[in-house]
Amino acid sequence: MNKIVNIAIIGLGQIGIYLYNELNIKKKDIEIKTGKKIKIVAISAKNRNKKRRFPISKKIFYRNPLQIFSKEKIDILFECIGLPDGISKKVVETALKNKIHVITPNKALLAKHGDVLASLAEKNKVNLEFEASVAGGIPILKTIKEGLATNKINKVYGILNGTTNYILSEMENSNENFDKVLQKAQKLGYAEPGNPKLDLNGFDAFAKIRILSALSFNTKISKNKCIMEGIENIKLTDIKIASQLGLRVKLLGISEVINGQLFETVHPCLVSKKTYIGNVNGVMNAVITEGKPVGQSVLQGEGAGPGPTSSSLLSDLLSILRGNIKYPFGISNSKRKFIKPFNNNNYTNSLYLRFDVRDKQGVLSLITNRLAKYKISVKRIIQTPDKKNKKATIVIITHKTTEINARNCLTLFKKNRNILKFPTLIRLYN
Ligand code: HSE
Repeated sequence: MNKIVNIAIIGLGQIGIYLYNELNIKKKDIEIKTGKKIKIVAISAKNRNKKRRFPISKKIFYRNPLQIFSKEKIDILFECIGLPDGISKKVVETALKNKIHVITPNKALLAKHGDVLASLAEKNKVNLEFEASVAGGIPILKTIKEGLATNKINKVYGILNGTTNYILSEMENSNENFDKVLQKAQKLGYAEPGNPKLDLNGFDAFAKIRILSALSFNTKISKNKCIMEGIENIKLTDIKIASQLGLRVKLLGISEVINGQLFETVHPCLVSKKTYIGNVNGVMNAVITEGKPVGQSVLQGEGAGPGPTSSSLLSDLLSILRGNIKYPFGISNSKRKFIKPFNNNNYTNSLYLRFDVRDKQGVLSLITNRLAKYKISVKRIIQTPDKKNKKATIVIITHKTTEINARNCLTLFKKNRNILKFPTLIRLYN
């Protein structure tokens, strides 16, 4: 690589514009650390005149990012658009084919097309780096690829979405409802651009889990059908009841190899307030790896927002500038295999079940009888009456049961004039 390194930034949303400014103010520092002078020669976004957090140089602005490849000599390209396909994929593919190193925080793209793109990078002997795609500022991918390189990792899990962790914590602290707290998260730049649904429904954390699995277990990115649930159905009531029980709701991503089979999931979990994970609050993410011989390692940090994301993007940049050319997923693509999926039906947990019912004789026994029919044993029960409306909330914590058993049992509760809604289920994390 020449002493002067030409950079392009595609996408000038919350992340792209922050990165643009960081690169400009850290030029000298980067030169001291790597011996290379960086020069931003092209930037691209839909709208040249949009009001942005930092001013841009219009001389290097392109509306169509694909024009850049014929007009400029680029060494390293940042893809910050964030789409799972379309122009994001086209830009990354074109860059790799032109032997341009690519850095991206785009987990949706990686989780969907990571194998093909990694193979393209390998063929063209350039880097495809995506540290910022998982857990914001936490250097978890480098830790797995380098720090833990010779360990046999069998489990990686944690809190992987800053927006939802912020919302759950803030609801508990402020007693404010979901919508109000979501607005705050968007203002802080945590939620996915334009579409917070991807944070709320678990998709964002799930894409991260797919990437983590591939890196941790040296496998291809799985396409398995998995349990993926977000926090849309968690109500302030659940957070308050959980709190009384010494529990907190956390959206956990879990990936584990169980008897040689891959299990991946994202869903809300109830965890004890006394545990480590129960105290990772706000926008914080935490990733826990379990491997041999290293044992358990924990990394915690801010998981969303332009600052932490830029920190990871710049770390990838320095890695490339220092000449650290490596396989995107740690090993050659040809050595990465698929492993058999674990049967989700056998996933086993204690359950929190919340029933909104009419406060009438026989309703509680109706519920417990139905649970008993499926051999689901009750561990704890809390009933809160709403006298004025002749209603009650019944929360039951069960002993452990399998996913299939729980699902079959809950279908019994779909229609009943005394059970007012389909029950809310939150799994307890063991
Ligand atoms: N929207 C993501 C989150 C940040 O809230 O964690 C980028 O991954």
